[in-house]
Amino acid sequence: MRDAATGLPGLVFVLATPDDVADHAASWFARFSEEARTEHGYVAMALSGGSTPRATYERLAAPPYRDSIAWLDWMVFFGDERAVPPGDPRSNYHMANETLLSRVPIPPERVHRMEAERPDLEAAADEYASILEDTLVRGPGGAPRLHCIQLGLGENGHTASLFPGTPSLDVVDRWVVPSEADYDPRLRLTITFPLINAAETVVFLVTGANKGPALRGVVEGTVPAARVQPRQGTLLWFIDGAALNAMRAAG
Ligand code: 6PG
Repeated sequence: MRDAATGLPGLVFVLATPDDVADHAASWFARFSEEARTEHGYVAMALSGGSTPRATYERLAAPPYRDSIAWLDWMVFFGDERAVPPGDPRSNYHMANETLLSRVPIPPERVHRMEAERPDLEAAADEYASILEDTLVRGPGGAPRLHCIQLGLGENGHTASLFPGTPSLDVVDRWVVPSEADYDPRLRLTITFPLINAAETVVFLVTGANKGPALRGVVEGTVPAARVQPRQGTLLWFIDGAALNAMRAAG
């Protein structure tokens, strides 16, 4: 199903500004958390890195959401991680911990960090995949089924650390793999499309005119993020007007 106004797949919420995106996304995550908790008894959420989600995470870590969301029932995973220590400011875990995880009472044992700082990234990828398999029920294609995966969109149309022209795009039999970015830190761990597309819900947060061409690439199917097509799930976009206008101008 495509959104008639934008041509993007799934359901699209267009907000005026990045702050409005963060406000609406935070409200949506709070509602989603309660729905998932009611349906499943817990909330299996995968967070992205990058800068866009910071504002949403900060809102979730402040009143009213800090005090209303059932954090004790959350289970946190990551969509990708850079090959740097967790204390490195470039780490996705570091960003999520700074803006959200250190401020809300999610039990530490239920925060599953990708150990991308390890020398053996293949072993780290396989161990993370095992955590997903041991923790979650199986979804379409036999992949572990996350309740929600929050993703960003790079200017070149990558998502997670699934970059154009890399072998990670074509993996069909693994949930987590080492990958390589076209900017530092280059070495990464990333979830794969089979895992993403087994999720119950996938939510993109995209703001800024610089993301217009990448959104156009999603519409036209020419960028990696276009391969996000949940097999038995919902795809949502929270985008701002600047990104939408730039997408239309790129068309
Ligand atoms: C990463 C992210 C990546 C990010 C996009 C968008 O490790 O960098 O997981 O996929 O979501 O690059 O990044 P911004 O939100 O900073 O534009």
